[in-house]
Amino acid sequence: MQGFIPYDFNLLLPDEQVRRAREFYELCNRRRSVREFSDKVVPKEVIELILKTAGTAPSGANKQPWQFVVVTEPNVKHQIRLAAEKEEKESYEHRMSDEWLEDLEPLGTDWHKEFIDAAPALIVVFALSYEREGEKVRKNYYVKESVGIAVGFLLAAIHNAGLVSLTHTPSPMEFLGKILGRPENEKAFVLMPVGYPKDGVMVPDIKRKELGEIMRWKKVES
Ligand SMILES: Cc1cc2nc3c(=O)[nH]c(=O)nc-3n(C[C@H](O)[C@H](O)[C@H](O)COP(=O)(O)O)c2cc1C
Repeated sequence: MQGFIPYDFNLLLPDEQVRRAREFYELCNRRRSVREFSDKVVPKEVIELILKTAGTAPSGANKQPWQFVVVTEPNVKHQIRLAAEKEEKESYEHRMSDEWLEDLEPLGTDWHKEFIDAAPALIVVFALSYEREGEKVRKNYYVKESVGIAVGFLLAAIHNAGLVSLTHTPSPMEFLGKILGRPENEKAFVLMPVGYPKDGVMVPDIKRKELGEIMRWKKVES
């Protein structure tokens, strides 16, 4: 069939499937958002490999509507921190509802964002609503869904590579496009500091929902 290639499928025995599924679950279950980083540098090759992994995500009509900007330059990180803190201060003091602040309380977060300076690398993810092909504008589809899935792949790849990260969404995020000089079709989606945890770092003691709460087998009607 023209335009098609054989799919490289590797059939696993059921025991092997269970083993691998369990191992991957156990790996993912150890992932936590970390908000305090050491200054240990992340090898460039690791950053490139985790971003290649993010780029393997499925996307609406295979548009791959994402752009990842890696920032390691201290001056640029600091500019981002100041702009993020300005928005976050406004959010924490005026924009967030009491319910939202109550929900954030167990996480111990506030408008201070030291981690933006401290992390050796920031990955800023941009979502592309459309792209230009010469004079023509080509629309992308299911952009948020696609970029969200790519960020999921990215988070798993970061954790798998022995690194930690935070999914940070300072709101509104327009300042990221401005500081990083991105074109107007790119909208900042998430800011992810990536690196190694500070020695002895603590994380909030929060619980994940049990399987019974997040899934059910649909009963067959007889
Ligand atoms: C879309 C999204 C936005 C988030 N935004 C922030 C944020 O701006 N600041 C922050 O400290 N954590 C943020 N988080 C991290 C969550 O607080 C964290 O994932 C949640 O508390 C669960 O903790 P865990 O990641 O350690 O499992 C965000 C997470 C997601 C998925």
